Amino acid sequence: MNPRAILIGAPGAGKTTVGEILARDLGCAFADSDQLVEAENGQSVADIFVNLGEPFFRQCESNAITQALSGFDGVLSLGGGAVMDMNTAKELTASGSPIFWLEVSSSVAFRRAGLSAPRPLLVGNVRANLVSLLETRTPIYEKLATHRIDANTYDPQQIAQQISDLLTNGVPC
Ligand code: S3P
Repeated sequence: MNPRAILIGAPGAGKTTVGEILARDLGCAFADSDQLVEAENGQSVADIFVNLGEPFFRQCESNAITQALSGFDGVLSLGGGAVMDMNTAKELTASGSPIFWLEVSSSVAFRRAGLSAPRPLLVGNVRANLVSLLETRTPIYEKLATHRIDANTYDPQQIAQQISDLLTNGVPC
């Protein structure tokens, strides 16, 4: 059993919102790696960073994704930094699930990330931190993605529809 679709991309790309809509449209379950880690630890991601540290968070994130890749068959959305773990990256490719990269510019990510839940890695100069994260991560998103989706121009409903069409039309990965 492996996820029907996996969503990756920067903070602010809309992975969770799109994932929830997509799962509802497909009539399947939705899981988000941040939410899995929060449920496991009984704390928000922001609190885990402060109380237990980023390495602990990354370990929990990697474990949660390993489990989901073999035991979950719905739509799985990953925290923006999850792909930087080498083991996770290998397992993602080996899973055979279609991997959708929601690609956003730093300015769109900045606008969206600034409006939502606190993100520990963006604290301080949010825009500069996002630019730097995107520089490091873009090659990895690009490498792992089986499909690249423009998340700058379209709203979450339209993006979910595009992904749903790709999945139901059986477009090869
Ligand atoms: C992170 C992104 C967050 C969350 C954590 C770290 C990152 O998820 O996993 O704050 O390293 O980019 P979102 O991408 O859903 O914001």
